[in-house]
Amino acid sequence: MNTPKRYLVTSALPYANGLKHVGHLAGAYIPADIYVRYLRAQKRDVVFVCGSDEHGTAIPIQAKKEGTTPQAIIDKYHVAMKQDFEDLDISFDIYHRTSAPLHHETAQEFFTRLNDAGELEIKETEQYFDEEANSFLADRFIKGTCPNCKSDRAFGDQCENCGRTLSPDELINPVSTLSGKTPIKKKTSHWYLPLGKHEEFLREWILKEHKDDWRPTVVGQCKGWIDGGLKSRAVTRDLDWGVKVPLKDAEGKVLYVWFDAPIGYISATKQWSIDNDKDWKPYWEDKDTKLVHFVGKDNIVFHCIIFPIMLKLHGNILPDNVPANEFLNLEGDKMSTSRNWKLEMRDYINDFVKKENGGGQCVDMLHYYLTQIAPETKDSEFTWKGFQDAVNSELVSIFGNFINRTWVLMHKLCNGKVPPLHTDMLDENDKFLIAEIEKSKRVIEQLLEQYKFRDALFEVIELSRKGNQYMQKKEPWIVAKQLTTDPAAQKSIDNTMHLCLQLSANLAILINPFLPNTAKTMLYMMKVVEKMLDWENAGNIKLLSVGYSLREPKLLFRKIEDAEITEQVEKLKAGLKDSVIEIKTSAIPQSKPMIQFDDFAKLELKAGTITACEKVEKADKLLKLEVDLGHEKRTIVSGIALHYKPEEMIGKQVVVVTNLAPRKMKGIESQGMILTAEDSDGKLQLLKPENPVSPGSNVS
Ligand code: 2FM
Ligand code: ZN
Repeated sequence: MNTPKRYLVTSALPYANGLKHVGHLAGAYIPADIYVRYLRAQKRDVVFVCGSDEHGTAIPIQAKKEGTTPQAIIDKYHVAMKQDFEDLDISFDIYHRTSAPLHHETAQEFFTRLNDAGELEIKETEQYFDEEANSFLADRFIKGTCPNCKSDRAFGDQCENCGRTLSPDELINPVSTLSGKTPIKKKTSHWYLPLGKHEEFLREWILKEHKDDWRPTVVGQCKGWIDGGLKSRAVTRDLDWGVKVPLKDAEGKVLYVWFDAPIGYISATKQWSIDNDKDWKPYWEDKDTKLVHFVGKDNIVFHCIIFPIMLKLHGNILPDNVPANEFLNLEGDKMSTSRNWKLEMRDYINDFVKKENGGGQCVDMLHYYLTQIAPETKDSEFTWKGFQDAVNSELVSIFGNFINRTWVLMHKLCNGKVPPLHTDMLDENDKFLIAEIEKSKRVIEQLLEQYKFRDALFEVIELSRKGNQYMQKKEPWIVAKQLTTDPAAQKSIDNTMHLCLQLSANLAILINPFLPNTAKTMLYMMKVVEKMLDWENAGNIKLLSVGYSLREPKLLFRKIEDAEITEQVEKLKAGLKDSVIEIKTSAIPQSKPMIQFDDFAKLELKAGTITACEKVEKADKLLKLEVDLGHEKRTIVSGIALHYKPEEMIGKQVVVVTNLAPRKMKGIESQGMILTAEDSDGKLQLLKPENPVSPGSNVS
């Protein structure tokens, strides 16, 4: 793979309607920060942009809640979010905002170019209008009764009680939240981006070109959207908060927030170029730029489908990757702002970072844990116990312990100086360690280039674990007892400590993208300049010069006490809002949380015909089936042996989940799952098409 000339890395612009939590941090900010720090250590030309997303209905709604103006809301939260990112060492090159005039101009120019080129369509529709407030109503500004659960806490876009996605027309007895009056229907025109026209381009670009280098979860979601049919999307709204539509006949209309927000990446780059006397254009126009968007999974469609179409039409480069993360849950439940089940970045900053000297340690501890549990392939979970274990059992006991032992012994046995390496005396353990140091650089680099940050960090910790094992085998403190009797003892100690020190220098380089404060403390201990952290130095075992005197050790990480985590869990539970109880006791016969269409669209269901079937040995409940899916046959293991005999299965049609990851059962790989219905008495029945269909037919 050729190295691109430059990189532009973006993190999703957070809405300036409230403080952000650690789920956001783990999803779009920490991974981007790791990647960028790694690129900077590689001396690559990289710009890392972000900023506040200050438009959309979320802002006026928050203003209403806080009894203030939208402008006051964005001013308050823009400053607060910027500060949070700074306090947690997210190293943006610029943190911009979409209320900036430069952004408004940029977004308007973008819209104009697409409109002038005839790439947008105008359509007339009917929308709810509040006559008293003289205003069209955004979906969120209409309240009513939910057609699903009959709760009166339903809005035009979603029911707060049962979570169902709604459209304003579905609400029973709709009422305007602006005036409390019943709204009327009124005609209005909007500009639409016809996504369907670009289906072929998307299929080619995502499903063919990027099918292997983008995360399967991302490609899967895109496939779901594309296969589901791409409808035209309105890119304007009737609202008085946002970027004005730059046309004479568009009074009272603004650009839809999802049209203007991603353009915020471009305006942020422009502002960065002004501040740094650089040219922004190559970052968005030269094909030799690698553009990478870090986002959460709820933003995939915008960054992989809508924004790329906009970029293509506008003549910009396309993203090279969108390494979207899944969601982070908290202590067994979904993070939720409305239920106050969340850990805000600000809370962690106040309770850990600001509470003690050396807050950098606490910043790194959070970066560590959030990377170790990063939801890269599936949703994952933050628990305070998990945080404590990660810090105490890995950072303190493995990484910190190795560095500390090295420094203490080096001061005790080598007068605080880097001892020589006696190459004629290298034993198997020494050679193994040297090979591991050299290998780690390549492995970690490859993982970082593939956005596998979790695995990359694991490798760094593994290397420090190997350092501990090495020291345990070499036991320099025991060898020291033979100094007076064995002439080779000093040389053995020298070699051990020399290699442990060179390994420490390597660990500083490798940990730097993940835990920059730790790397800085290690630089201080080694009395070397920042240049040593250049990535090209990794794998080198001659980083510290023989005879160079080093400082006393510093504590890299402190332990997290039981009392600290108990306090945090109690605080979390005490803050939980009543709404959770309402949801849990509501009479809806539903035991799993509501999902969006996107989630459902990820399932691939096909009808198949069973062509062979036998019992699985030593498993009472399992049958092994061979299912014909038209273009292929699959082996599926199913727990239906108590309900069906093998011979009666042959020829039956079944519904198969065909994109479920294969799983081994009793040594047999099951390549899918067949669907059954379970009656109240526990009897299982196969789900099948009403009349026979061709094997491989889609089920939806
Ligand atoms: O989901 C969100 O928080 C959006 N504000 C993200 C916008 S990302 C980009 F398009 F600006
Ligand atoms: Zn409802």
